[in-house]
Amino acid sequence: MTIAAIFAGGVGSRMGEQAGPKQFLPLAGVPIIARTAKKFYDMSDIDSVIVLSPKDWLQETEALLARHMGDTSKLHVIAGGADRTGTLKELLNYIKANIEVDENTVLLTHDAVRPLLDKRIILENIEAAREHGACGTYIPAVDTIAQSVDGKILTSVPPRDQMFLTQTPQSFNFKELVRHFSALTDQEKSALTDVCSVFSISGRAVFMVRGIPANIKITYPEDLVLAESLLALSLEETK
Ligand code: CTP
Repeated sequence: MTIAAIFAGGVGSRMGEQAGPKQFLPLAGVPIIARTAKKFYDMSDIDSVIVLSPKDWLQETEALLARHMGDTSKLHVIAGGADRTGTLKELLNYIKANIEVDENTVLLTHDAVRPLLDKRIILENIEAAREHGACGTYIPAVDTIAQSVDGKILTSVPPRDQMFLTQTPQSFNFKELVRHFSALTDQEKSALTDVCSVFSISGRAVFMVRGIPANIKITYPEDLVLAESLLALSLEETK
């Protein structure tokens, strides 16, 4: 059993004033959230797709996904939480209550606002989560990363060849994820910035799947323009 969860519970504040959260904005005519969900939904390797959307957008999410995906027999739309950890909690509780899992069940988690990932990344995530229990998607840092504790004075410059940028999916053996997540303190849970940290805090190795530069997280208005160009380029390449 392989489950894909699409994290779409955010408000997209950095996108500025819009008609709704950024995941509902159109990218070349199709809502971002529909493009992302469809990438996973169309793969026979994935048995269930769970989309976590803001509470006030549940009906809109269901309606637009039905419109863009046709078949919705393996789709679940549920409410996310107030922050990403809250959304993760809602997801884990929903799966425990509604989906039959076993020791080998794999859970992929992916940002709704990264619609440009490819099938190779998804397949490698499934394989790595099966084999290693946990994996994330990363690309090597192109720029040198500077660390500063206060944002004013440079603290350190870590070696660039050891620096990577985090993308999603991040994927796990479901039961192991639940076990490690339950063992965290409330403070550790609230400080989580990504799901892979659940494993690294617990001292468990996280395998690194190679991402692609096009798998951007649409965050600011200019990212939409960039995403449209990247999409056009990838369509051109597959012609
Ligand atoms: N997300 C979520 N639940 C939350 C917050 C975020 O599922 N409570 C999702 C977002 O919808 C997005 C992904 O996590 O698909 C990545 O988060 P980010 O880009 O930071 O989204 P937002 O929190 O919506 O953006 P912002 O920080 O600009 O408000």
